[in-house]
Amino acid sequence: MQTQTRDDRARPLRLIQITDTHLYRDPAAALLGLNTEDSFVRVVDLIAQQQPDPDWIVATGDIAQDASVEAYQRFVDTIARIPAPFCWIPGNHDKRDTMTRTPAFKAAYMERVQLGNWLIIMLDTSVPGEVHGRLSDQELAHLEASLASVGCDKRGANDETVDHALVCLHHNPIPGTASWMQEIGLHNADAFLEILKRHDSVRGVVYGHIHQALDFEAHGQQFYCTPSTCIQFKPGVEDFTLDLRSPAYRWFDLHADGRIESKVERLQNYEIKVDQSAGGY
Ligand SMILES: [Fe+2]
Repeated sequence: MQTQTRDDRARPLRLIQITDTHLYRDPAAALLGLNTEDSFVRVVDLIAQQQPDPDWIVATGDIAQDASVEAYQRFVDTIARIPAPFCWIPGNHDKRDTMTRTPAFKAAYMERVQLGNWLIIMLDTSVPGEVHGRLSDQELAHLEASLASVGCDKRGANDETVDHALVCLHHNPIPGTASWMQEIGLHNADAFLEILKRHDSVRGVVYGHIHQALDFEAHGQQFYCTPSTCIQFKPGVEDFTLDLRSPAYRWFDLHADGRIESKVERLQNYEIKVDQSAGGY
């Protein structure tokens, strides 16, 4: 586990979330008409401009559309402009093997990171060859063990230096509001929510996958879904529909007392060029 401490404990930790970049081997390639490399670079420009001193970056999956080494390499090279370390988890379009075994990327694959008195828990929900997600027994055990190590855990502390947990995953553990999304979320969300229920240290659940901005409370937890750096999906519709909102990222301020502040920041004056007749992605 990576541990990062800081002298200045008075200000909150600033965490940046980047998700669903869908990069291709070919930087000129487009997803439903939108060049994903261009929109990603613009979002990173925005982060570099707005975030002079971030503490950490989490990338929550669908980094590459084609799981190519070249796409992962460009992701790593581009976010190097943001002055903070990063970690990532795979989405349904990624290949865990490439992300975990390629020496240049291996270090970014972390199961958890300690930032000040917060534990950031990264979960792999990808199922090879499937769009939907699932937490394996191993991932559920990792979640349980990680939460059990947090100081204010109901069942007794074994690490007093960590008080709060933030859980990151790719797939939505709460069903999306569009009918076409019903089958593509986290299939064993019940097992996931059951573990969270047993630990009162979880302050937030962070994900991507359904390419939209959500910030809501459910099952006694606060959930944050973050828009993609490329195309967006319209909520509350029957069939697959693209939303004409701009690419975005999210920041979180993690306070030492467990409070979270968060906001989605979108590109301004960005002309959306997408194929609106697309029936899927
Ligand atoms: Fe995605």
